[in-house]
Order: sequence, then C-alpha cells, then structure tokens
Amino acid sequence: MYPTHRPRRLRKNPAIRSLVRETHLDWSQLIYPVFVAETSVRQTPVDSMPGIFQFNIDGVVKECSTLYEKGIRSFLIFGLPEQKDEKATSAYDEHGIVQEALRRMRREFPEAILFTDVCLCEYTSHGHCGIVKDGIILNDESVELLARTSLSHAQAGADFIAPSDMMDGRVAAIRRILDENGFSDIGILSYAAKYSSAFYGPFREAAHSAPQFGDRKTHQMDPANRLEALKEMQSDLEEGADMIMVKPALSYLDIIREARNRFDVPIAAYNVSGEYSMVKAAAKNGWVNEKVIRDEILLSIRRAGADIIITYFARDLALES
Ligand code: PBG
Repeated sequence: MYPTHRPRRLRKNPAIRSLVRETHLDWSQLIYPVFVAETSVRQTPVDSMPGIFQFNIDGVVKECSTLYEKGIRSFLIFGLPEQKDEKATSAYDEHGIVQEALRRMRREFPEAILFTDVCLCEYTSHGHCGIVKDGIILNDESVELLARTSLSHAQAGADFIAPSDMMDGRVAAIRRILDENGFSDIGILSYAAKYSSAFYGPFREAAHSAPQFGDRKTHQMDPANRLEALKEMQSDLEEGADMIMVKPALSYLDIIREARNRFDVPIAAYNVSGEYSMVKAAAKNGWVNEKVIRDEILLSIRRAGADIIITYFARDLALES
C-alpha cells in the first residue's frame, strides 16, 4: 500500500478535510427537550443539568422563541403537573400542563414541530410509568391511559406523539385512537429501544419522576440486549410508528447503527440527561473541553446512524451562534 496510499493527503488542511467529511450535524436534525411545570415561577434551574430549567408556560414560550429565532425548530415537551395520583389523571386532563403549553406554543410558533413525551411517570403519585396493582405495573390498563393522553395532546396541537413508557402494544393503541378521532395526520415517534439506564438520573430530578419504590426493569430494556432492541423496533413499526428512537445514545451507538442498517424509517437517538450532565460536570472541573467534546459526541451519534438527535445541548449550540 504505502507509499501509493497516503491517507494524510486528505487531511492536509481544513478545506480538504471539510471536502471529504462524511458526517454533518445540521440544526434541523435536533430536537430540544423542555420541561413545563404548573407553577407561577417563570424558571427554576435543574441543579444536575446546568443550563436546563423547569419553566412555566410563559417561560417556555420565551425559551423556545429565543431558540426558534436561532434556528431550532423542534421541541419535545415534558410536563410537571401540580397534582399526582394513582391514575395519572393530570396526564390526560384537557387542561393539563402539557395540553395548555401546547395550545400556547401552537399559537406562538405555528411552524414549529411539537413533540410530546407520553408517559405516566410524571403524573403518578408513585412515579411509575403505569397503573400499579399489588406492586405490578399493569400493561393494558396503562396503555389505555397512554392512548387517552396522546389523543388529548393531538387535540391541543401536537405534531408527533412520542410514547416513552415501554408498555407493550401502546403504539398500536395510540395509532388507533388518533385515527378514530380524525388525527390520522399526527405522527408517532416511538421510544422503541429504550433501555433501563442510570443515564436518566438527572432527568428524574428535572421531571420529578423517580419511582418511589422498585425500578423500571419490568418494562425498560436490559442494557445487555441487542436482539431484543431489534424486535422492539420491528414491532413498533408494525404497530404504526413513523419514526423510532434508541435511548440512551452514547452507550448504545451499536444499536443505532443496527437500526439504521435494518429499518427504512428515520432513526432518532436521545442524548439523555446523564450524558449531558457528565460533560457539564467534567467541563466545570476543567477536565475536558466542553464545546469540542459536545460536538464530537453529537457527531458520533450522527455517524452511528441517527438522523435526528434529541439533545439538551441544542440550547448551547443555538445560544452560542
Ligand atoms: C419517561 C422518560 C424518561 C426520560 C424521557 N422520558 C425517564 C425514565 O424513563 O425514567 C429520560 C430522558 C433523559 O434522561 O434525558 N417519561
């Protein structure tokens, strides 16, 4: 090979490197997650996620308009209700926090793409993702409420429903209820391969959604499993998902790549709270170069095969520009 092949010729200067660069990160591929709380406080910082806040509706509109002007077009909305109960009533309340935020955001940003996270964990008093009976999370009873929640989001103006609960059959149930009610044009981005992960730690502080007992291992996936992820993604597509997600992203780049190779739909990856907080914490200590490491991480998720990245870093990227 050498000296005929000299790969360094293609790395000689920035222009050549740019010419042969294989992967790009475009802001149109980013979704920014936002936490909306039923409170009069405009914004409350999330300690474990520097730069991230719980907003009230006025606060979230302000935040999103700043980012929208900078070119971030897609938002994923999480709700923090005032009332929690065993049936997650606030999740499917027509005047719930997400529903009200959606109506305002729809009005303020008619062109934005509004995704809503659909799960019950932020709305149940015990913090589990579904209805609990005798310590067991009931599948079908929970799916019914998830479908109701999804319909109320569609009615309030969501473009895409993003179920993150990992109950069986929820995509089919959501597709059905949307279609039956005249929302056949509202899409589903399913959290299809969602692993049971310690990387969600900071999120649970942000969303007040930590389970009061037990864990999420009976519905979220075992980090050891690859084939199971493919099966989950396959079945969500068969049930009617328009796009599928792998979550978390960084420890699961292999799964993202397999999804990209196997399925002909847009693949999303969630660069989750723990991945964000680790970078922030290390950067604060001066141990890593925050911007360079962030860009490297986001690029690696794209290179692995993700078309879309859900990331808290969208904010810094936008504000820096
Ligand atoms: C469930 C949900 C979680 C995340 C998104 N949706 C938490 C969980 O499953 O416990 C995690 C997101 C993150 O860590 O950034 N509603």
